[in-house]
Amino acid sequence: MNSSRPPFAGWIRSSNTITQQFLSIGGKPDIVSLAGGLPAAELYPVGAIRDATERALRRWGSSVLEYGPVEGLYALRETIAARTSAESGGKFLAANVMLMTGAMQGLDLVGKTLVDPGDLILAQVPTYLGALDAWRPRQPRYEKFDWNCERPGFDAALAQAKFAYVVPNYSNPTGALVPQPQRLALLDKVRASGTWLLEDDPYHSIHFDGDPGLDILESDARQFKGVYDGPVIYLGTLSKSIVPGLRVGWAIAAAGMIEKLALAKQSSDLSSSLFTQAIALELLESGFDLEHSRSINERYRERRDTLCSEAAARLGDWFEWEIPPGGMFVWMRARDPRIDTNELYKVALEEKVAFVPGSVFDPDGKDHSAMRVNFTRSSPEVIAEGVRRLEKAVKRYLHR
Ligand SMILES: Cc1ncc(COP(=O)(O)O)c(C=O)c1O
Repeated sequence: MNSSRPPFAGWIRSSNTITQQFLSIGGKPDIVSLAGGLPAAELYPVGAIRDATERALRRWGSSVLEYGPVEGLYALRETIAARTSAESGGKFLAANVMLMTGAMQGLDLVGKTLVDPGDLILAQVPTYLGALDAWRPRQPRYEKFDWNCERPGFDAALAQAKFAYVVPNYSNPTGALVPQPQRLALLDKVRASGTWLLEDDPYHSIHFDGDPGLDILESDARQFKGVYDGPVIYLGTLSKSIVPGLRVGWAIAAAGMIEKLALAKQSSDLSSSLFTQAIALELLESGFDLEHSRSINERYRERRDTLCSEAAARLGDWFEWEIPPGGMFVWMRARDPRIDTNELYKVALEEKVAFVPGSVFDPDGKDHSAMRVNFTRSSPEVIAEGVRRLEKAVKRYLHR
């Protein structure tokens, strides 16, 4: 590239290319990718989406092929508000909901709306790497949060933070489900501090051992007599429960926050696709998403169990993990101090298997002792082969 041209913006130098690498690895047939956070493509409900598309076009005609309102298709905003009201016992209106291009856009827009360079974000660690990517251009500082609200300095950090970022349901990367008392303790602290709480919830419906219970937004909504006006900004998506290709996600928050997010969105992309929102409306109104989640969860449970039992037989000497009750990942922590997962990753690629090294989920990039392993994308047979290759990679790595 011609070096006399103006330099790229400063944040580009600190960006990571690992997400692009996963997406391209996914397309290489000889590599077993346990890296991406992707649903199983063979379970995508193509027929139901075809029918929903036809119904949507019959219902809306050319109007959903226009540019849309920034906040998205009003009928879908109303449907999401009504569902959230019914599930929480609180009161939400369309004004509390904004539709967008996946939850990923919500992360970007929250950063754009709240964060100036040097501002503090209190982030659950390990943290979703897409969130770190989304906020990198805003140049925030991070304070790490391990769900212990009683630790010294926590209140002071929360008071300074623009927002706290959490994934309480089957987090990415750990798959952990945060117990209700810890959620409520954080909510109390957030209320007392007057800051915002960003609750990112893509894995809500992907569970194997029972329902996750109330979201933090839902618990907060019960406190309000009128329409929701609290500190929680909730992000939902159809990417994991139906398909990522619809790119339909949403934020639910106080109407005043939604207005600001809409301002931020206007200068990003004018509006998301009304067409896929109209398809999503058909799927949600008919309850298809709930029914579909139940059927894919059966398959994902089998895949989770395969990964955990194969790993127990082949990787248990070097790694430990908790069996995740939902989501898409097993978070394997090295119990052998000789293992640096950044280095192991390179050997694993030579053995034609991919995982995600833990360092990319650490705002400081310092955690080299863990790896994220996905179990939803591949069949049980392919998962078992992936674990065999991982075992070979670990043995080679340790005998270098
Ligand atoms: C925690 C978390 N938030 C947000 C997203 C982005 O989801 P979407 O496809 O809706 O943009 C993901 C996707 O993997 C995720 O794991």
